[in-house]
Amino acid sequence: MKTIYLLNGPNLNLLGKREPEIYGAETLEDVAALAQGVCADGYEIVSLQSNHEGQLIDWIHDARERACGIVINPGAYTHTSIAILDALNAFEGPVMEVHISQVHKREPFRHHSYVSKRADGVIAGLGIEGYAAAVRRICQIA
Ligand code: DQA
Repeated sequence: MKTIYLLNGPNLNLLGKREPEIYGAETLEDVAALAQGVCADGYEIVSLQSNHEGQLIDWIHDARERACGIVINPGAYTHTSIAILDALNAFEGPVMEVHISQVHKREPFRHHSYVSKRADGVIAGLGIEGYAAAVRRICQIA
């Protein structure tokens, strides 16, 4: 069985409750179920969320041994974290960056992503369907 790490960063534990006009009504549990549901045969999802940058980095390090690919929504760390970029650069498989909202239509500070310097694919503005597209892609290439 191949494992795909599905990593969500800060505030995404509040999905469904937090600014639903931007992020929708679905919860993080819905995201995990959607991701598992679109996995090809022989793939499984490990879904992890943290509000802490170091924890996300530790999980990216774990993924070096355990995962064939990473789907990551780094939340606001997208726009700030060179440390998460460095951790992803130490991972050899495909990395898909997902944003629920269309970050380029929003405030200018959301237009830059450190993670995009490493990501093999970037999806923004598809709502939680973006996670499904990212998982499908990893199943094709990893
Ligand atoms: C987000 C966009 C980020 O700018 C924001 O800080 C988030 C969520 C998204 O999924 O649209 O927390 O990554």
